[in-house]
Amino acid sequence: MPIAVSLVGSDDRDLLMRLRERGFRVAQVALSELDMVHPIGSKGPDAFVFDVRGLSRLPREIGQVKRQFPSVGTVIVARALDPAEMLEAMRMGVNEWVAEPLQYSDVDAAIHRVARVVTKPLVGRTIAVLGAKGGVGSTTVAVNLATALRVASGQPTLLMDLHLAHGDAALFFGAEPRFSVLDALENIHRLDETYFKGLATTTKAGPDLLGSSNRALQGTMEAMRVRSLIEFAATAYRHVVLDCPRVDAAMIDAIDAASTVVVVANQELATLRAASRIANDLRLRCGPDRVRLALNRFDPLSEIRQADVERVLGGPVKYVFPSDYRAAVAALNRGEPLMLEPDGRLAEAIDDFARDVGGLPARPKDSSKSGLFGLLGGRR
Ligand SMILES: Nc1ncnc2c1ncn2[C@@H]1O[C@H](COP(=O)(O)OP(=O)(O)O)[C@@H](O)[C@H]1O
Ligand SMILES: [Mg+2]
Repeated sequence: MPIAVSLVGSDDRDLLMRLRERGFRVAQVALSELDMVHPIGSKGPDAFVFDVRGLSRLPREIGQVKRQFPSVGTVIVARALDPAEMLEAMRMGVNEWVAEPLQYSDVDAAIHRVARVVTKPLVGRTIAVLGAKGGVGSTTVAVNLATALRVASGQPTLLMDLHLAHGDAALFFGAEPRFSVLDALENIHRLDETYFKGLATTTKAGPDLLGSSNRALQGTMEAMRVRSLIEFAATAYRHVVLDCPRVDAAMIDAIDAASTVVVVANQELATLRAASRIANDLRLRCGPDRVRLALNRFDPLSEIRQADVERVLGGPVKYVFPSDYRAAVAALNRGEPLMLEPDGRLAEAIDDFARDVGGLPARPKDSSKSGLFGLLGGRR
């Protein structure tokens, strides 16, 4: 089946002809005709290409189209790589940006990327985990969340390490992945489920892992692709967990594709302040319902009590994980998530958290006790 492209707002005959020559089924549509050609309730094309070279600013129709056809990929053809406009476009949900001097092969590749990414509906739930500061335990939480989701649901689960360089999620799994997130980004036009799953490594603990790369991702263009990659992963896995680096604007835009964002903090004033700031930014960006706060390495004897924490953060802390240094270190030394060590309080807290955030049934109450119910319940 040829890819159906709606070429919007373009008077470039060459572009139209070249796309048709390359096998796309192209309909040329004026901005003012969009709602007539693609009425509400219709299926929409496989991709929209907005040619904005003749316009002084991005047309609002882009946002309308993305709201009406959220799963249809969008490519912008523009005069230049303008970071401010690209950021605005990304916020409207645009997936690709191609600038002059125009290479038809670039437009072609961009359409293939977005059309491929969106051909399947999203099925999975994506949870982004990010630390208010380095060292709070966000990788620990992400790795164990993925493991708990895999174990509790029995469904395909992926952990994606979005650190630009030297992410350590693989270490927590005792895995040595051959491919990285960057390999997936560079080959995003080739992604189908089989290829994608070939890039991921299956860990002993259960979840698949797409590890960190050692090369850097740069700028808005990459963030657009990271976002497409996150969306693609949710078509191939039931649960996707993202181990996110400290946030910048581009990363926030990319993780906006996640269904839930968990901000991890601990009982330290500086970290709490950072958590409060990050959570507020995220609430504005993603809506309050998608943002959750978690308190890791919780120490009930700390001078800073949970109530103090909630005051600083301006709301309830939904998830609390106890401090258990020995369990954490032993797990790391074994190269195995601590979830797999049954009966620990930390493992149980993460299990409850995973079920809640992953929309799974709560852990059977009796199974937390040893004895017959525990055995019959087959906790793990
Ligand atoms: N609940 C916990 N109790 C005790 N130690 C923990 C806990 N969670 C994480 N740690 C330890 O804290 C250190 C930093 O954790 P890590 O997940 O790498 O943090 P981050 O990814 O936020 O930088 C690790 O040594 C880890 O084992
Ligand atoms: Mg980390």
